Amino acid sequence: MHARSLLFVVPVCQLTLPSFRVNSKYILHWHTFLNFAPMQFLKRIMLIPRSSSMYEHRLAPLRDQKIKMLEIGLGCDMGYGPGASYYTWLEYFPHVDLYYIEYDAECAHKWANKTDKATIFTGDQADTEFLTEFMLTVGGNFDVIIDDGGHTMNQQRASLKTLWPAIKPGGIYFIEDLATSYIAKYGGGAIGSDTMMNDLKIMLDDINRAPEVPITFPKVSNQVVSFEFTQEVVALTKFS
Ligand SMILES: C[S@@+](CC[C@H](N)C(=O)[O-])C[C@H]1O[C@@H](n2cnc3c(N)ncnc32)[C@H](O)[C@@H]1O
Repeated sequence: MHARSLLFVVPVCQLTLPSFRVNSKYILHWHTFLNFAPMQFLKRIMLIPRSSSMYEHRLAPLRDQKIKMLEIGLGCDMGYGPGASYYTWLEYFPHVDLYYIEYDAECAHKWANKTDKATIFTGDQADTEFLTEFMLTVGGNFDVIIDDGGHTMNQQRASLKTLWPAIKPGGIYFIEDLATSYIAKYGGGAIGSDTMMNDLKIMLDDINRAPEVPITFPKVSNQVVSFEFTQEVVALTKFS
């Protein structure tokens, strides 16, 4: 999510390079608009972050459908405040059934009173009991889940492992800010160390391995039809 554009002045989001980071979801609409042929030149000089292309490319086909969507992370710790993606999703998906999981209870409760178009759950995305309870309550069957929470290795892993069954066949699970796999304070490390990125590599090994090589990551990878990577984001799509 590196913004290289001088023309975009957008809220600073994310982690390591604050002044060069944006929330790619906010420019989803801009990106859609810029796809009109006369705007291609403008789009090129604005150098739209790659992750917004991923969102647009994967989510545009769902736009007019009645979809069920979960995002982990409301944005309570962001300079621009909570709820920015909430408005983006409501605008982008007019028929969305939208859920949030947020760790910051005070912020989540405050925000829950302001919104009637999303259901907000307070809890820790690394707490598998909480996630299981969440799934029992809301019933699973999600078209889209986006992990944009705390971005540590154990958070990303626990959420993927526990929430993956809640993705419906053909649904998509996004993990944002994969750069944390290389940042020590998030549990990351050097290339090849024990991280979320490495788990994804093992999953790729699993789906490409020869039959005599044993499966090492069966829970998720045997149900993934595609792994689509761009800068700092992966989209895992479940078999239909
Ligand atoms: C990057 S911000 C989310 C930005 C928001 N999705 C947006 O696009 O505007 C990360 C959010 O995740 C929350 N968070 C951090 N750790 C969490 C955890 N363990 N479980 C759930 N949410 C967490 C933070 O409080 C914060 O609200």
